[in-house]
Amino acid sequence: MKRVYIIASAILILASCNRESLREITDFNNDWEFARTGGIDDSLAWQAVDLPHDWSIEGPFDKDNPATPGGGALPGGKGIYRKIFILGSETQGKLVFLEFDGIYRDSRVFVNGRLAGYRPCGYASFSYEITPLLNPPGEENTVEVTVDNSLQPNSRWYTGSGIYRKVRLVITPLVHIPYSGTYVTTPQVSADLAQVQVSTTISYPSAASGHFYLLTKILDPAGHTVAKECNYVEPSQTGEITMNQTLAVKKPALWDVTDPRLYTVESLLLKSGAVIDDYKTTIGIRTFRFTADSGFFLNERPLKIRGVCMHHDLGALGAAVNRRAIERQLEMLAQMGCNAIRTSHNPPAPELLDLCDRMGFLVMNEAFDVWRKSKSAYDYAMFFEEWHEKDLKDFILRDRNHPSVIMWSIGNEVLEQWNNPRADTLDLQQANLLLNFMAGNDSRLEGDLTFDALLTRKLAIMVKELDPTRPVTAGCNEPGVYNNLFRAEVLDIIGFNYHESDYPQVPVNFSGKPFVAAETTSSLHTRGFYQMPSDSVRMEPKQWWLTYDTPHHMCSSYDNMHAPWGNTHESAWRHVRDNEFISGMFIWTGFDYLGEPTPYWWPARSSYFGIIDLAGFPKDVYYMYQSEWTDTSVLHLFPHWNWKQGETVDVWAYYNRADSVELFLNERSLGVCTKDSVQLHACWRVPYEPGTLTAVSYYQGKEFLRRSVSTAGVPARLKLTPDRSILDAGGDDLVFVTVEVLDENGNLVPDADDLITFRLEGPGTIAAVDNGSPISHESFRANFRKAFHGKCLVVIRSGNTAGAIRLTALSESFTQESTLDLEARLVQ
Ligand code: GAL
Repeated sequence: MKRVYIIASAILILASCNRESLREITDFNNDWEFARTGGIDDSLAWQAVDLPHDWSIEGPFDKDNPATPGGGALPGGKGIYRKIFILGSETQGKLVFLEFDGIYRDSRVFVNGRLAGYRPCGYASFSYEITPLLNPPGEENTVEVTVDNSLQPNSRWYTGSGIYRKVRLVITPLVHIPYSGTYVTTPQVSADLAQVQVSTTISYPSAASGHFYLLTKILDPAGHTVAKECNYVEPSQTGEITMNQTLAVKKPALWDVTDPRLYTVESLLLKSGAVIDDYKTTIGIRTFRFTADSGFFLNERPLKIRGVCMHHDLGALGAAVNRRAIERQLEMLAQMGCNAIRTSHNPPAPELLDLCDRMGFLVMNEAFDVWRKSKSAYDYAMFFEEWHEKDLKDFILRDRNHPSVIMWSIGNEVLEQWNNPRADTLDLQQANLLLNFMAGNDSRLEGDLTFDALLTRKLAIMVKELDPTRPVTAGCNEPGVYNNLFRAEVLDIIGFNYHESDYPQVPVNFSGKPFVAAETTSSLHTRGFYQMPSDSVRMEPKQWWLTYDTPHHMCSSYDNMHAPWGNTHESAWRHVRDNEFISGMFIWTGFDYLGEPTPYWWPARSSYFGIIDLAGFPKDVYYMYQSEWTDTSVLHLFPHWNWKQGETVDVWAYYNRADSVELFLNERSLGVCTKDSVQLHACWRVPYEPGTLTAVSYYQGKEFLRRSVSTAGVPARLKLTPDRSILDAGGDDLVFVTVEVLDENGNLVPDADDLITFRLEGPGTIAAVDNGSPISHESFRANFRKAFHGKCLVVIRSGNTAGAIRLTALSESFTQESTLDLEARLVQ
């Protein structure tokens, strides 16, 4: 490779006069039409939609929907999208691509009636070149996308249906950097210097494309160029070349969870003195390592991974990606002290990783929930043989530049862990393919490994070849050394799901291997519901294949109920906290999600596992984590104070930064209590009488914090609290408004279930309503919602114009309306 340093700056000046020749990236999400297909007659009822779009979330909930309550009890089916677009003459001599971040599932994209591409996996991102399918400039083109989510059940959770992630139209010159075209690593990082290696793929039509240059610049967090390198590119016959450049950044600002500093790598292709393509990659400079004895280190600082598992749905908004909705989830998790996300159990939306980079979250990025052996009738196992190589490869290529991503998971609780009769389903051709792959790729292939251990090797080796900088793990619920995934000897980190009692054996059985509690807890709670005695722990259902039922379909919000394979929150955290060798944990789950309504079944249709409910209201245990994981001053007193005279009520307080807590009932002291390293809350057993319960925390004998809860009267008014009062006009921004039913003294009415109706004036719409109840069958797309334990949520979406927005809320129990004023502003 020839080095051409001198000309770089001259070319740059010329380049700045030639900006119009750069690649064009157009938001392709508006003005689509959508119709459900597969009905008995052929007529289609087209409706106008903007993407991202999820048709399943519109409902209705029905226990007989083929997804079953496990999939959220919402409809699947088939659909078609279409959009008409015209391209101008400036696209002549250029390449045109459609980039899809995700379609659930089994999608086919047609342009002007001709197939551009087929992708069965609902979580894959892909780019199709559509240049040869286009009509001449100035003429109409039609893109049609068919989606088939009719084979059900195909998941253990709610998936959504449709083009539920974003779409872009990208126009590049013939010589260009393709989709996922860069790979940036930082092999050496010190306080003085970071070595940044940039590998850039360049596509060109032929060797006759003429010579050109690749100029790579690194911009610091403030946007100043801090390094650059320019190289001559000589096209060969192959149509594609990968250039490797090494740049140096002096005194790098490190990416860290506490201060996520980001750099930008700008890759410019220069030809005849002009920039013809530019491509940006966001990176972070950091070091990390997992150790067998002392856990995880970020930038050489020991850091316990305090993570949560998250499915991709956004509650009442369904699977349709919305950046602000994800940001809100991460904000709440960050305030709880969480510093990591496991993208259970599939590739996430690009927005999630982008936000994790920007907000300082670590990510365990997961590829699959199943391999060859299915967990539900029509899940990804039916596509695995044919598609796993492409899906895995595209996933790693897409995500390997994110500083937030610190490990790859090649699977969650895959059934290939065990040998059983279903292990023998490989036909001869597949067996040969696998053996041939291993023969070419792994010199360690010796001895007597099962096919499933070989398959583990194949997947892990594929990942390592595409990204040797990050360790590979898997969520294993078989802790024994005979687990095929462990026998394959390719997992860099041993990851257990649950099985806390087996943690002590890890250093013995997997000597020298780092360890992560890949999934923990599976505790079960309904916000605002309490079952006593609080110190008696319930385990339901008794076995995973059984269901459990009660008339109320609720789970206790003291930390005293969990699935039998799980644990209480306090106990799961103690295991991780007290074992230095454990890198960290991923709690099942941060938020409730649609589907998997364990321990119940219909009428329940969403989960109970979340630390935060489906509407985004924290359950009590949120404050246990906040008190243990942050320096934010916490004193959280619960439950509510509306009980029957004569009942004995267990009162808990989560607190921190204080030595003890004293409880008062109607100003009489009920005693001082402290938490300790085992019991992470204070508690009292209190004979109920109406009035006011007050907790006071003391630090070195002085009052620190004070919290009260009073017996509430009947509903008298509503309180509307928005998460923000200004939103961006443009149709993508959201405001989440918490609605609380209060009595005349301002106390939350803990059992209020009033029907509340909303009216919106101004440039916005009601995007969704919810109340966090896992058994509500009301539509999320309505302008009314019943309160659940005193609260509900209304989500407002901005319109295209700026202006004042007024939300009015009216309860069925009283006549006084409540209003809230918001402002939509144009983005500069
Ligand atoms: C785990 C599984 C998760 C979820 C969870 C519920 O075993 O990995 O996907 O099903 O159980 O407790």
